[in-house]
Amino acid sequence: MIHQISDEVIDKFIDDGEVEIVKQFASQVPIRVISNMLGLPREDEDTFVEWYQALIAGLGFGGEHLTAGLKARNDMWDYIDPLIAERSKNPGEDLLSRICVAEMNGSRMTPEEIKGFVALLLAAGGDTTEKAIANMWYHLMYTRPDQLQDVIDNEGLWEDAFTEMMRYDPVVHAQFRYTTREIPMHNDVIPERAGVILYLGAGNRDERAFKDPDTFDIHRDDLHMGKENRSGRYKDGKNGHLGFGIGQHFCMGYAMARQESAIACSKLAARINNPRPKHAKHAGISSPSIDSGGFRTPAELWMEFDKNP
Ligand code: HEM
Repeated sequence: MIHQISDEVIDKFIDDGEVEIVKQFASQVPIRVISNMLGLPREDEDTFVEWYQALIAGLGFGGEHLTAGLKARNDMWDYIDPLIAERSKNPGEDLLSRICVAEMNGSRMTPEEIKGFVALLLAAGGDTTEKAIANMWYHLMYTRPDQLQDVIDNEGLWEDAFTEMMRYDPVVHAQFRYTTREIPMHNDVIPERAGVILYLGAGNRDERAFKDPDTFDIHRDDLHMGKENRSGRYKDGKNGHLGFGIGQHFCMGYAMARQESAIACSKLAARINNPRPKHAKHAGISSPSIDSGGFRTPAELWMEFDKNP
């Protein structure tokens, strides 16, 4: 399904010789994959993508974005309500059906809870993955164009590029927690019930964990490439990046995000030759910016290419 959706998205711009990666590629694939997983009718997919984009922009910014986001949310809920009713009675194999009929201690989720779960999937699985894809292309085009050629020559390296991007410039830079007890740390003590911000991005650049941490290098040998298996230290001396969090709340969708990004990007790379930045200079990755929802990503990213005959 990811292969098919990636090809459909690429078909729309492949004859143009250029693409704005954020809007035309990265922000298209993950949400269409989630829409399919939920089992929404394919003919409604474009509308679903529009609602999603308005909703995510509304989450990150106030004013007219918030008004448009709330309207999109209400329209989406009006659309999903009858589907929830139908699939609760006649469940299929799709994820929405499974959420509708899942039971815990003999009870199912209410329609409000089911919609909350769908909203969580959109923000946690769509918004993050699209920004990861864009960040990866940004670094391959502007930071290490030599390594862009490496992934084009060897599609197996897309997972390595994804992993190094998650270390070097993760989409989610910080997590917020309260301490449940006193935490002694670095000759100081964080008191109980203190609000703390954990900077995942800073941990990923810790020189005690990674050699030359401020260098983007998809061939580094001190990072666990590919399959994440929780974060932190491994027995073999390598480290995992913290881009998917750490511990009990470690990202539930990490495998999907990595695989989806690798498949979509290798599909695109296979259909183009000589990919290059359209603009010599770029403003870089930032947060928050319009449509970023607070996660880090380039505002836009133009690439030119020759079509692979
Ligand atoms: C590159 C893409 C992604 C990034 C950067 C990312 C990042 C994160 C991070 C940092 C957390 C930890 C939150 C915390 O500690 O409080 C998290 C949790 C979570 N993620 Fe992801 N995520 C990604 C993709 C996905 C996908 C594709 C899905 C599902 C389809 C997903 C579903 C979740 C869920 C449900 C949680 C909550 C887990 C819990 O609280 O036990 N994520 N993610």
